[in-house]
Amino acid sequence: MAGIAVKELPFPEQFLWGAATAAHQVEGNNRGSDWWAFEQRPGAIWHGDRSGLACDWWCSAEADFDRMAAMGHNTHRLSVEWSRIEPEEGTFDPAAIARYRDMLAGLRRRGIEPMVTLFHFSSPQWLARHGGWRSPAVVGRFRRFARHTVEQLGDLVKLWCTINEPNVYAALGCLLGEHAPGVKSLRHCFQVLSHQLQAHAAAYRVVKALDGSAQVGLVMNTIVFEPLDPANPASVRAASLADYVFHELVFRAIGDGKLRFPLSLGLTAHGPLIDSVDFWGVNYYTRQRVSLRRRFLQPTPGAEVSDCGRSGPYGEIYPQGIYRVLKRVAALRSQGVPIYITENGLPDADDDQRPRYLLTHLAQVQRAIAEGVDVRGYYHWSFTDNFEWAEGWALRFGLIALDETTQVRTPRRSAQLYTGIIRANAITPDLVALYAPEVMSDIFPAPPHSTNVPATQAGIDVRPRP
Ligand code: GCO
Repeated sequence: MAGIAVKELPFPEQFLWGAATAAHQVEGNNRGSDWWAFEQRPGAIWHGDRSGLACDWWCSAEADFDRMAAMGHNTHRLSVEWSRIEPEEGTFDPAAIARYRDMLAGLRRRGIEPMVTLFHFSSPQWLARHGGWRSPAVVGRFRRFARHTVEQLGDLVKLWCTINEPNVYAALGCLLGEHAPGVKSLRHCFQVLSHQLQAHAAAYRVVKALDGSAQVGLVMNTIVFEPLDPANPASVRAASLADYVFHELVFRAIGDGKLRFPLSLGLTAHGPLIDSVDFWGVNYYTRQRVSLRRRFLQPTPGAEVSDCGRSGPYGEIYPQGIYRVLKRVAALRSQGVPIYITENGLPDADDDQRPRYLLTHLAQVQRAIAEGVDVRGYYHWSFTDNFEWAEGWALRFGLIALDETTQVRTPRRSAQLYTGIIRANAITPDLVALYAPEVMSDIFPAPPHSTNVPATQAGIDVRPRP
């Protein structure tokens, strides 16, 4: 019997589809944050760029919310800016809360479920003056900020993320010095990571105490680390050390409450970390090859890469990676908790790779779901181009192109493709044929000619893809 032609790759009913943003990257004129100050340092941002007006969301986010609604988005992930809500230590600004209430109510009115991140890389300048995330006092300060924010906004929010990517904040901000606060110290990096996890746990308990029905998660950046040369034991060990420090340290700490630093830097026990996630937020972009000989991290030689940042390609395009990290996170000790893909995307100014990236990554997400992984939603990074931290305006992640000087928006083809996927709640052969026919056989492998396909699988491809 000939195989049954695969019709489409469906997503679960109620699946959340949207995009993700962060306050400092989109709001504009965010003058009280440490990132605003960091941008003024000569050489800190590529080409001397500044966030400036960003995407002008503080004044007119609603115009983009209209676009999201027209494109079928039913969710949006955004963050609140600590320095706006608490511009001086212990003093809260009712006008900032009112603006966030307007934005959140505006999303809800448009049928867009907000997911709100309490901390996404930018801190108040007053916090930085008091030792920033290095001082243990930050845990209590963050708890107070979280309590006020949730008291004021909680009726409009059911999905909260505490901290965005503590692993990236610690690595880029405190070890490599490329992000604010711009420090290069391993000890500082581990102290900050430890404080961010404690602050996460504190905020988790605050939200749950105020609204037991809210869902609260921690967002991790995930990278597939593999040795550049699998036959070289040093390269293999380096890859597994990178993986341990970047992911496993945090995953285990949430599982058993113990933060075990490598290199004899000690162990910190944090009882409250246990049971502090209702969901995992997974940010996935790329794979990195680890080598001790040349650059420590690099793409697989010969692999397709996305646009270049100041130190080379942003990343290798590796769709199977998202499947691998979903399976890994689903198998953690805190297993049973659902997963949201809280970021996924690439810098691609001319949009010649994004349609293929979107389709192949979502096909791998669907593969994980078909195998039982509880993925509840997907947030593309990002809606429009925005201020990409130390890379400034050079890297273009938007479904919609933004001219930041005129604020004119131009949808890329990927925006139409994403709308098509959302409307179908599936990846269909028609969409693949229209937007990325070159990956048709990867996404919909030709049915085998001589095997029987069980009737229960008719119409749904559950076969593993490579
Ligand atoms: C991060 C952040 C985002 C980035 C995005 C693209 O992962 O660094 O969460 O703010 O802009 O990842 O690099």
